[in-house]
Amino acid sequence: MKYTAGIIGLGSCVPDRIMNNFDFEKIMDTSDEWIRTRTGIKERHIVSEGEANTDISIKAAKRAIEDAKIDPKDLDLIIVSTITPDTVLPPTSCLIQEMLGATNAAAFDISAACTGFIYALTIATQFIENGMYKNILVIGAEILSSITDYTDRTTSILFGDGAGAAILSRVDEGGILSTYIGADGSGKDYLFIPAGGSRLGTSVQTIEQNLHTVKMAGNEVFKFAVRKMEEASLEAIKKAGLKLEDVDFLIPHQANIRIINSSAKRLNMDMENVYINIDKYGNMSSASIPVALDEAYRKGKLKKGDNVLLVGFGGGLTWGSTMIKWNL
Ligand code: COA
Repeated sequence: MKYTAGIIGLGSCVPDRIMNNFDFEKIMDTSDEWIRTRTGIKERHIVSEGEANTDISIKAAKRAIEDAKIDPKDLDLIIVSTITPDTVLPPTSCLIQEMLGATNAAAFDISAACTGFIYALTIATQFIENGMYKNILVIGAEILSSITDYTDRTTSILFGDGAGAAILSRVDEGGILSTYIGADGSGKDYLFIPAGGSRLGTSVQTIEQNLHTVKMAGNEVFKFAVRKMEEASLEAIKKAGLKLEDVDFLIPHQANIRIINSSAKRLNMDMENVYINIDKYGNMSSASIPVALDEAYRKGKLKKGDNVLLVGFGGGLTWGSTMIKWNL
């Protein structure tokens, strides 16, 4: 028997501390005006000394569980999408499992950079559809400030910290109509962290050479993003058996307002129906889409029966999209 998966609860959390564009003016050669006009970002939330991934992802998770009105013991699986876990071992999902007392849940992390939440949602959807699991907690959570080079003005101004969570379950009405994911490893050099893995571990030299932070070819990523946001969107729409004009609301990955605007234009979307919060948070990688989804939902922007499209792209390179008939 094939079941339908749907989101039955959402939650999000960002750290309290805010770093605005004027704070960057004090530490590097940049300006509020440049950052706002080139990226759409005004401020981002950044963890304080001692705060880590699970300090915020647990709050997002608890909010989603409360919203779904389930008990943590009802969870069958926890998937955390992150490139900034508390520790490489154990997985952050296992830390969350213990914190929640979700003793019946299996747990694992996935790494697909900014597309991670869509990848995790796609995995979770399979487990629900094939009947293996009933309730799955999917988290997208990042502490990008921990891998950001605050001497590099071309990358540091873009990133922020945050966490978003969703409970996926069997639904009778609406739910996930289609998911689509893709990757192109030939774009590996456009967005990467040189050291800290098994290829180049941590040493005095790697730290001195600043090899543990994100390096990016901004223009290349920009061109790829605009192309893939459109392609991925059309793919999920087609797989759902819908047409472009059937999309009621678009929740795009929040990387740059110019990428969002040009993707929305290519998709012929009215900007009223596109959710934007990049001004407040910057790019939070795999947390961007679930935080935006949670905000749109809580602000009443998503109506039952709406066709809601999630679309993202990121390092890898990776991309993906999900078409949901809103069921809440
Ligand atoms: N403040 C002031 N000037 C800056 C700056 C900053 N923070 N960052 C870059 N500049 C300068 C550059 O040095 C360059 O100066 P030059 O012309 O004297 O060489 C100039 O601004 C233009 O740089 P450019 O890189 O062409 O700017 P851009 O309009 O492409 O914007 C990004 C740069 C990074 C904002 C943009 O390329 C982008 O958003 N790319 C996608 C990144 C992304 O989405 N990454 C995450 C993927 S999930």
